[in-house]
Parts: sequence; C-alpha cells; structure tokens
Amino acid sequence: MAKLKILNRQTDEETLRKVSREVTEITPRIHTLLDDMIETMRGADGCGLAAVQVGVLRRVVVIETPEGLFEFINPKIIKKSGVQVGHEGCLSLPGESAVVKRPACVTVRALNRDGEEIEVTGFDLLARAMCHELDHLDGILYIDKAEK
Ligand code: NI
Repeated sequence: MAKLKILNRQTDEETLRKVSREVTEITPRIHTLLDDMIETMRGADGCGLAAVQVGVLRRVVVIETPEGLFEFINPKIIKKSGVQVGHEGCLSLPGESAVVKRPACVTVRALNRDGEEIEVTGFDLLARAMCHELDHLDGILYIDKAEK
C-alpha cells in the first residue's frame, strides 16, 4: 500500500471539478487504488475519500465510520429520507468546515471489490459521508451546498 497525495482545492480545483468515469472492469489496479485510498484516508485522519481527490477520475470511494470500512465502486444513491444539518469538512479543503444540510438516511448501491452488488444504508455521519463522497464523483464540493 502507498499513501497518495491528496489534491487541494487551492491548487487543484480544476481536477476536483471533473466528473469521474464509471469503472468498467475491476482490475488489480482498482484493488491497489482502493488499498492506497484507505491508507491515504487513514493517514489524513479522514472518514471518506473519493478517487478524484488523489487525481484518479474513476467512480471509486472509500468511507470509514464507526459502522465500519466501506469500499464503493460505481456507487449510486437509491434512497434517501429525512434531513440532518451539521458541520462538514473535506480533506481537499484542510482546516475549513461549514454547515451543510443532508438527508438523515441514505441507501447506496454499488459494487464491492469482488464485483458483487452491495447495498448499504447509513444514518447520521455515514449518510453524510456517503452524500459528500458521491458528490465528489460529479465534481461537487460541500461548499457548493453549504448554508450561507
Ligand atoms: Ni471531500
């Protein structure tokens, strides 16, 4: 595993604003990417990371919350309900945070590293992290949704 450089909005906003492409085949390179993203997320003390944040424009996300470690390939939100309002930050905007309104409960459908379809339902922090990381795949940053 290797720790990767996390893109910073100050210098890399152009890349962070790009839309990531679907993964069409889960190759050993995708496994290495997932492993490296996990090490990078943990090394930065984060609870989520999208591949675009390490400069890879693929729809790949890792999240770690008290519920566990999640690896999502080609994730989609298939259900959401309720509202939560809370502080949110991002490893690509170090030292910043803002209040963002998110659904209280979110269900994501994705592929795991074995290519199997999985569904994960999360509340609170996990729901927030899933929304935040999936937004990254479409070039959206939390500041776009922050309360003024
Ligand atoms: Ni982020």
